Amino acid sequence: MSQMLEERSREYREHIETYLKDWYARFHDEPQGKLFEAMEYSLLAGGKRLRPIFAFEFCRMCGTDWKKAAPFAAAVEMIHNYSLIHDDLPCMDNDDYRRGRLTNHKVYGEAMAVLAGDALLTDAFCVASTAELKKPSDMAFAVGVLAECAGSLGMVGGQVLDMMSEERLCTEQEVIDIQTRKTGALINAACVLGVIAGGGSENEEQIAAAGRFAGALGMAFQIRDDMLDVIGNAAELGKAVGVDAGKNTFVRLYGLEKCGELVLKYTQCATDALSVFGDRAFLTDLVKSLTDRTV
Ligand code: IPE
Ligand code: IPE
Ligand code: MG
Ligand code: MG
Ligand code: MG
Repeated sequence: MSQMLEERSREYREHIETYLKDWYARFHDEPQGKLFEAMEYSLLAGGKRLRPIFAFEFCRMCGTDWKKAAPFAAAVEMIHNYSLIHDDLPCMDNDDYRRGRLTNHKVYGEAMAVLAGDALLTDAFCVASTAELKKPSDMAFAVGVLAECAGSLGMVGGQVLDMMSEERLCTEQEVIDIQTRKTGALINAACVLGVIAGGGSENEEQIAAAGRFAGALGMAFQIRDDMLDVIGNAAELGKAVGVDAGKNTFVRLYGLEKCGELVLKYTQCATDALSVFGDRAFLTDLVKSLTDRTV
């Protein structure tokens, strides 16, 4: 791993961890303390923090202080964590482990896990609303993108398609459509919100590039996630493997070998999309490092 990749990733990660921790520390004396405990159990449990990293880096590539993107980076990470809490519930994927720890409902019970997810989703918009933008009217644009990517047309829509397709064999286009929504949409929000925080809302080239990058990277990312369910190590991944056997994964569609090739192909498409940005070395290195990720 290059020194720049390591150092900048660490800096971004540390910043988002502190930001999220500080946001909720203020509420610890509220009577619903157990809710905050459940939310923070998942939110502060590590994770790769890729979506915040994308938001920070797109903001920086637009020539703005990357810390300006923190409220948007935090909002996307909160929505991502809510999606994982709900994804692990017995009525969905029924998983017992996430990031090397018991899943939220295993510790706090299903009702609290549902509510912790609900609160993370709602609070995300509160956090996002605190962003200081060069053009204050961009807030409506940003909130619209965030809501659309998270909601019925985005992540939730993808989770529904995923769930409804379990009993049958999907076509290639259907599998791509599921992943574009369930995983791609929040990655898209992170990248586009990074551009908005960076002051690029009226730069159609930059907004489009962020969208193209996210679309391709989202594909590479979910294909690798599906591969890791087969070739990954549960202890290292921090979540169970072999649980997607009956599902419409990319591995079922293409087989492992072709999946490996497609991860490389989509990663190349993602880096090609960055050509409108001058200083793209960090993001290029980062997505290359994700092609053979084991976590
Ligand atoms: C896991 O996402 C769920 C998918 C969308 C594939 P990540 O692999 O980004 O999860 P964390 O946040 O690093 O744990
Ligand atoms: C999860 O996809 C996508 C969302 C949570 C929106 P998966 O169900 O494949 O994610 P993991 O494997 O449990 O992390
Ligand atoms: Mg799932
Ligand atoms: Mg799952
Ligand atoms: Mg998975």
